[in-house]
Amino acid sequence: MAKPITSQTQSSEKALAVRQKLFSLFASRPMPDEELLVNMGLYIRSGALAKLLFLNEMYEKIVQLPGVIMEFGVWRGQSLIVFENLRAVHEPYNHARRIYGFDTFDGYPEIGQFDKRSEIISENTYAVGDDYESYLDALIDYHEQENVMGHIKKHALIKGDASVTCRQLLSDRPETLIAMAYFDMALYKPTKDCLETILPRMVRGGIIVFDELSHPDYPGETQAFMETIGPQRFDIARSRFLPDRVFVTVR
Ligand SMILES: C[S@@+](CC[C@H](N)C(=O)[O-])C[C@H]1O[C@@H](n2cnc3c(N)ncnc32)[C@H](O)[C@@H]1O
Repeated sequence: MAKPITSQTQSSEKALAVRQKLFSLFASRPMPDEELLVNMGLYIRSGALAKLLFLNEMYEKIVQLPGVIMEFGVWRGQSLIVFENLRAVHEPYNHARRIYGFDTFDGYPEIGQFDKRSEIISENTYAVGDDYESYLDALIDYHEQENVMGHIKKHALIKGDASVTCRQLLSDRPETLIAMAYFDMALYKPTKDCLETILPRMVRGGIIVFDELSHPDYPGETQAFMETIGPQRFDIARSRFLPDRVFVTVR
């Protein structure tokens, strides 16, 4: 199996050595799977917990707004699952809150001139394997069915280059308005193309979230932002829980 992407991390050698302890305690857990699934907090590190709190922070900003959620750059799909379950927590009867996840599921297709090539930013990193998309779809289906109004399918995984598939989705579903667009592709071209496509569909008060804005390792995302939104057009703020995650409120 390929080296896990999570091993290419910003953590120190010391932190990684300590983390081995968690892997070994997890592997030797003295409990059945059923109990594990209701005690996941035993193994969630503070960084991963902050990510969940951040997703909730973003979701709370759109509860009163109409429009769908789009995530650009899904990878394993945790955010999509968390959004589905946050819908169940915050607005269980809002079946109009569709959740769309865009990804090649083959990792980065190409690295362009505005992007900074690295061990992580190179062709096909974040590829999840041929069967993963259907596994993830089945997992989101499960969560939907467990939640209220489970008979209505409220999500879609959209495979392919988001530069193309985002435009296609909005042309196939011209009724679509967007409450939250979450950008996590890190690259210039798809980020710029999708920003241009979604901006006219964003509702006032909706948010555009950026994972890597102003990050020196991912200059393409900032370049795309500068050419479409820019730092002065809308209110811009950072997350309370993940200080490097930024959201723009469309006004
Ligand atoms: C950093 S990962 C996303 C991580 C995910 N949002 C999370 O929080 O776990 C970046 C993803 O963007 C996807 N991606 C990059 N360029 C793309 C493109 N042009 N079209 C669709 N997906 C793309 C990659 O396949 C990869 O899964």
